[in-house]
Amino acid sequence: MARKEDVRSMFDSIAWRYDFLNHFLSIGTDYAWRRKAVREMGRMISPGNILDVATGTCDLAIASLKLNPQKVTGVDISQRMLEEGRKKVFRKGLSERIELILGDSEELPFGDNHFDAAMVAFGVRNFENPAVGIAEMYRVIREDGVVMILEFSHPGRFPFSAVYRFYFHYVLPFFGRLFSKDPAAYDYLPESVSSFPEGEEFMEIIGNAGFKDVKRRLLTGGVASIYTGRK
Ligand SMILES: C[S@@+](CC[C@H](N)C(=O)[O-])C[C@H]1O[C@@H](n2cnc3c(N)ncnc32)[C@H](O)[C@@H]1O
Repeated sequence: MARKEDVRSMFDSIAWRYDFLNHFLSIGTDYAWRRKAVREMGRMISPGNILDVATGTCDLAIASLKLNPQKVTGVDISQRMLEEGRKKVFRKGLSERIELILGDSEELPFGDNHFDAAMVAFGVRNFENPAVGIAEMYRVIREDGVVMILEFSHPGRFPFSAVYRFYFHYVLPFFGRLFSKDPAAYDYLPESVSSFPEGEEFMEIIGNAGFKDVKRRLLTGGVASIYTGRK
Protein backbone atom coordinates (compact mmCIF):
# COMPACT_ATOMS: atom_id res chain seq x y z
CA MET A 1 0.00 0.00 0.00
CA ALA A 2 1.09 3.60 -0.59
CA ARG A 3 2.57 5.68 2.19
CA LYS A 4 0.14 8.02 3.90
CA GLU A 5 2.18 11.16 3.21
CA ASP A 6 2.44 10.32 -0.51
CA VAL A 7 -1.31 9.70 -0.72
CA ARG A 8 -2.06 12.97 1.05
CA SER A 9 0.18 15.05 -1.19
CA MET A 10 -1.10 13.31 -4.33
CA PHE A 11 -4.72 14.15 -3.45
CA ASP A 12 -3.72 17.67 -2.42
CA SER A 13 -2.20 18.15 -5.87
CA ILE A 14 -5.13 16.79 -7.92
CA ALA A 15 -7.93 18.18 -5.72
CA TRP A 16 -8.71 21.11 -8.05
CA ARG A 17 -9.32 18.66 -10.94
CA TYR A 18 -10.69 15.70 -8.99
CA ASP A 19 -14.41 16.17 -9.63
CA PHE A 20 -14.01 16.96 -13.30
CA LEU A 21 -11.77 13.95 -13.92
CA ASN A 22 -13.93 11.61 -11.88
CA HIS A 23 -17.07 12.40 -13.80
CA PHE A 24 -15.34 12.70 -17.17
CA LEU A 25 -13.39 9.44 -16.91
CA SER A 26 -16.34 7.46 -15.58
CA ILE A 27 -18.79 9.16 -17.98
CA GLY A 28 -20.83 10.12 -14.93
CA THR A 29 -21.17 6.50 -13.74
CA ASP A 30 -19.57 7.36 -10.40
CA TYR A 31 -22.66 9.39 -9.42
CA ALA A 32 -24.94 6.43 -10.16
CA TRP A 33 -22.65 4.10 -8.17
CA ARG A 34 -22.73 6.37 -5.12
CA ARG A 35 -26.52 6.67 -5.35
CA LYS A 36 -26.86 2.87 -5.53
CA ALA A 37 -24.47 2.43 -2.61
CA VAL A 38 -26.52 4.85 -0.51
CA ARG A 39 -29.74 3.03 -1.45
CA GLU A 40 -28.15 -0.25 -0.43
CA MET A 41 -27.29 1.24 2.95
CA GLY A 42 -30.83 2.64 3.26
CA ARG A 43 -32.22 -0.89 2.91
CA MET A 44 -30.34 -1.86 6.07
CA ILE A 45 -30.78 1.18 8.30
CA SER A 46 -32.35 4.65 8.66
CA PRO A 47 -29.27 6.39 10.01
CA GLY A 48 -29.49 9.60 12.03
CA ASN A 49 -25.77 10.07 12.23
CA ILE A 50 -23.49 9.04 9.34
CA LEU A 51 -19.70 9.06 9.02
CA ASP A 52 -18.15 9.42 5.55
CA VAL A 53 -14.53 8.32 5.74
CA ALA A 54 -12.12 9.63 3.06
CA THR A 55 -14.91 12.01 2.07
CA GLY A 56 -12.71 13.91 -0.42
CA THR A 57 -14.88 16.41 -2.26
CA CYS A 58 -17.99 15.13 -0.43
CA ASP A 59 -19.96 13.48 -3.23
CA LEU A 60 -20.85 10.44 -1.12
CA ALA A 61 -21.66 12.59 1.92
CA ILE A 62 -24.01 14.67 -0.25
CA ALA A 63 -25.59 11.57 -1.85
CA SER A 64 -26.23 10.10 1.62
CA LEU A 65 -28.54 13.02 2.50
CA LYS A 66 -31.19 11.06 0.52
CA LEU A 67 -31.53 8.94 3.68
CA ASN A 68 -32.48 12.04 5.69
CA PRO A 69 -29.89 11.77 8.43
CA GLN A 70 -29.70 14.56 11.01
CA LYS A 71 -26.00 14.90 10.34
CA VAL A 72 -23.22 13.60 8.10
CA THR A 73 -19.60 13.94 9.21
CA GLY A 74 -16.90 13.75 6.54
CA VAL A 75 -13.27 12.99 7.37
CA ASP A 76 -10.25 13.22 5.06
CA ILE A 77 -6.48 13.59 5.36
CA SER A 78 -6.20 15.95 2.38
CA GLN A 79 -6.84 19.57 3.28
CA ARG A 80 -7.23 20.53 -0.39
CA MET A 81 -9.81 17.82 -1.12
CA LEU A 82 -11.75 19.02 1.92
CA GLU A 83 -11.55 22.62 0.71
CA GLU A 84 -13.10 21.60 -2.62
CA GLY A 85 -15.76 19.64 -0.71
CA ARG A 86 -16.45 22.54 1.63
CA LYS A 87 -17.01 24.92 -1.30
CA LYS A 88 -19.44 22.45 -2.87
CA VAL A 89 -21.33 21.86 0.38
CA PHE A 90 -21.59 25.63 0.92
CA ARG A 91 -22.76 26.23 -2.68
CA LYS A 92 -25.52 23.67 -2.21
CA GLY A 93 -26.60 25.21 1.10
CA LEU A 94 -25.74 22.04 3.03
CA SER A 95 -23.25 23.41 5.56
CA GLU A 96 -25.70 22.83 8.42
CA ARG A 97 -26.04 19.15 7.59
CA ILE A 98 -22.50 18.16 6.62
CA GLU A 99 -19.55 18.73 8.90
CA LEU A 100 -16.02 18.28 7.53
CA ILE A 101 -13.03 17.34 9.63
CA LEU A 102 -9.37 16.91 8.75
CA GLY A 103 -8.44 13.49 10.10
CA ASP A 104 -6.95 10.07 9.48
CA SER A 105 -9.12 7.02 8.82
CA GLU A 106 -6.66 4.89 10.73
CA GLU A 107 -7.04 7.01 13.84
CA LEU A 108 -10.56 8.40 13.74
CA PRO A 109 -11.10 11.37 16.07
CA PHE A 110 -14.36 9.97 17.55
CA GLY A 111 -15.38 7.92 20.54
CA ASP A 112 -16.63 4.32 20.38
CA ASN A 113 -20.17 3.51 19.15
CA HIS A 114 -20.75 7.07 17.95
CA PHE A 115 -22.34 6.65 14.48
CA ASP A 116 -25.33 4.71 13.15
CA ALA A 117 -23.49 4.06 9.93
CA ALA A 118 -20.03 4.58 8.44
CA MET A 119 -19.25 4.52 4.74
CA VAL A 120 -16.36 5.06 2.37
CA ALA A 121 -16.23 5.40 -1.42
CA PHE A 122 -13.00 4.76 -3.33
CA GLY A 123 -11.02 5.44 -0.19
CA VAL A 124 -10.09 2.14 1.51
CA ARG A 125 -7.75 1.27 -1.36
CA ASN A 126 -5.69 4.33 -0.48
CA PHE A 127 -5.31 3.64 3.22
CA GLU A 128 -1.83 2.73 4.35
CA ASN A 129 -3.41 -0.17 6.22
CA PRO A 130 -6.99 -0.90 5.06
CA ALA A 131 -7.61 -3.45 7.85
CA VAL A 132 -6.83 -0.78 10.46
CA GLY A 133 -9.15 1.73 8.74
CA ILE A 134 -11.99 -0.82 8.67
CA ALA A 135 -11.38 -1.72 12.33
CA GLU A 136 -11.63 1.98 13.16
CA MET A 137 -14.97 2.19 11.33
CA TYR A 138 -16.14 -0.79 13.38
CA ARG A 139 -15.10 0.92 16.61
CA VAL A 140 -17.00 4.15 15.93
CA ILE A 141 -20.22 2.46 14.69
CA ARG A 142 -22.85 1.65 17.32
CA GLU A 143 -24.07 -1.88 18.00
CA ASP A 144 -26.28 -3.04 15.09
CA GLY A 145 -25.01 -0.14 12.97
CA VAL A 146 -23.97 -0.56 9.33
CA VAL A 147 -20.81 -0.23 7.28
CA MET A 148 -20.82 0.38 3.52
CA ILE A 149 -17.71 0.31 1.35
CA LEU A 150 -17.77 1.23 -2.33
CA GLU A 151 -14.59 0.30 -4.14
CA PHE A 152 -13.25 -0.56 -7.58
CA SER A 153 -12.99 -4.22 -8.49
CA HIS A 154 -12.28 -6.17 -11.69
CA PRO A 155 -14.91 -7.35 -14.13
CA GLY A 156 -14.42 -11.10 -14.62
CA ARG A 157 -16.06 -11.75 -17.98
CA PHE A 158 -14.45 -11.50 -21.40
CA PRO A 159 -14.69 -9.31 -23.52
CA PHE A 160 -15.76 -6.73 -20.95
CA SER A 161 -12.70 -7.52 -18.82
CA ALA A 162 -10.34 -6.82 -21.78
CA VAL A 163 -12.05 -3.54 -22.67
CA TYR A 164 -11.92 -2.52 -19.03
CA ARG A 165 -8.21 -3.36 -18.73
CA PHE A 166 -7.37 -1.33 -21.81
CA TYR A 167 -9.42 1.61 -20.59
CA PHE A 168 -8.11 1.51 -17.04
CA HIS A 169 -4.43 0.99 -17.87
CA TYR A 170 -4.07 3.16 -21.00
CA VAL A 171 -6.97 5.54 -21.68
CA LEU A 172 -7.53 6.68 -18.10
CA PRO A 173 -3.85 7.42 -17.24
CA PHE A 174 -3.53 9.29 -20.56
CA PHE A 175 -6.40 11.67 -19.80
CA GLY A 176 -5.38 11.86 -16.15
CA ARG A 177 -1.91 13.04 -17.17
CA LEU A 178 -3.33 15.46 -19.70
CA PHE A 179 -5.78 17.16 -17.37
CA SER A 180 -4.39 16.88 -13.87
CA LYS A 181 -0.75 17.93 -14.43
CA ASP A 182 0.21 15.16 -11.99
CA PRO A 183 1.59 12.32 -14.12
CA ALA A 184 2.01 9.96 -11.18
CA ALA A 185 -1.54 10.28 -9.86
CA TYR A 186 -3.32 8.52 -12.69
CA ASP A 187 -0.68 5.79 -12.96
CA TYR A 188 -1.26 5.22 -9.28
CA LEU A 189 -4.99 4.66 -9.82
CA PRO A 190 -4.79 1.44 -11.92
CA GLU A 191 -1.83 0.23 -9.86
CA SER A 192 -3.70 0.68 -6.59
CA VAL A 193 -6.79 -1.07 -7.98
CA SER A 194 -4.78 -4.02 -9.36
CA SER A 195 -3.03 -4.64 -6.08
CA PHE A 196 -6.13 -4.30 -3.90
CA PRO A 197 -7.99 -7.39 -2.63
CA GLU A 198 -11.57 -7.83 -3.81
CA GLY A 199 -14.46 -10.22 -3.50
CA GLU A 200 -14.13 -13.01 -0.94
CA GLU A 201 -10.66 -11.85 0.10
CA PHE A 202 -11.86 -8.35 0.89
CA MET A 203 -15.05 -9.63 2.56
CA GLU A 204 -12.83 -11.64 4.86
CA ILE A 205 -10.95 -8.48 5.88
CA ILE A 206 -14.29 -6.79 6.64
CA GLY A 207 -15.42 -9.84 8.63
CA ASN A 208 -12.13 -9.96 10.54
CA ALA A 209 -12.77 -6.40 11.74
CA GLY A 210 -15.86 -7.81 13.50
CA PHE A 211 -18.65 -7.12 10.99
CA LYS A 212 -21.27 -9.80 10.37
CA ASP A 213 -23.62 -10.45 7.41
CA VAL A 214 -20.94 -9.17 5.04
CA LYS A 215 -22.31 -8.95 1.49
CA ARG A 216 -21.08 -7.81 -1.88
CA ARG A 217 -23.03 -6.38 -4.79
CA LEU A 218 -21.40 -5.93 -8.22
CA LEU A 219 -21.78 -2.71 -10.18
CA THR A 220 -21.35 -2.36 -13.96
CA GLY A 221 -20.29 -5.95 -14.49
CA GLY A 222 -17.85 -5.84 -11.58
CA VAL A 223 -15.97 -2.59 -12.34
CA ALA A 224 -16.94 -1.57 -8.80
CA SER A 225 -18.46 -3.35 -5.81
CA ILE A 226 -20.59 -2.35 -2.86
CA TYR A 227 -19.70 -4.19 0.36
CA THR A 228 -21.96 -3.99 3.39
CA GLY A 229 -21.83 -5.41 6.90
CA ARG A 230 -23.43 -4.99 10.30
CA LYS A 231 -21.82 -4.49 13.70
C1 LIG B 1 -10.37 8.61 -4.59
S1 LIG B 1 -10.71 9.77 -3.32
C2 LIG B 1 -12.38 9.41 -2.90
C3 LIG B 1 -13.13 10.62 -2.40
C4 LIG B 1 -14.63 10.45 -2.20
N1 LIG B 1 -14.95 9.48 -1.19
C5 LIG B 1 -15.35 10.12 -3.48
O1 LIG B 1 -16.21 9.24 -3.48
O2 LIG B 1 -15.08 10.78 -4.50
C6 LIG B 1 -9.83 9.09 -1.96
C7 LIG B 1 -9.76 10.00 -0.76
O3 LIG B 1 -9.22 9.26 0.34
C8 LIG B 1 -8.50 10.16 1.14
N2 LIG B 1 -7.64 9.37 2.04
C9 LIG B 1 -6.62 8.55 1.72
N3 LIG B 1 -6.06 8.01 2.81
C10 LIG B 1 -6.76 8.50 3.87
C11 LIG B 1 -6.66 8.32 5.28
N4 LIG B 1 -5.72 7.55 5.81
N5 LIG B 1 -7.55 8.97 6.07
C12 LIG B 1 -8.50 9.78 5.54
N6 LIG B 1 -8.62 10.00 4.21
C13 LIG B 1 -7.77 9.37 3.38
C14 LIG B 1 -7.76 11.01 0.12
O4 LIG B 1 -7.25 12.20 0.66
C15 LIG B 1 -8.87 11.22 -0.92
O5 LIG B 1 -9.60 12.39 -0.66
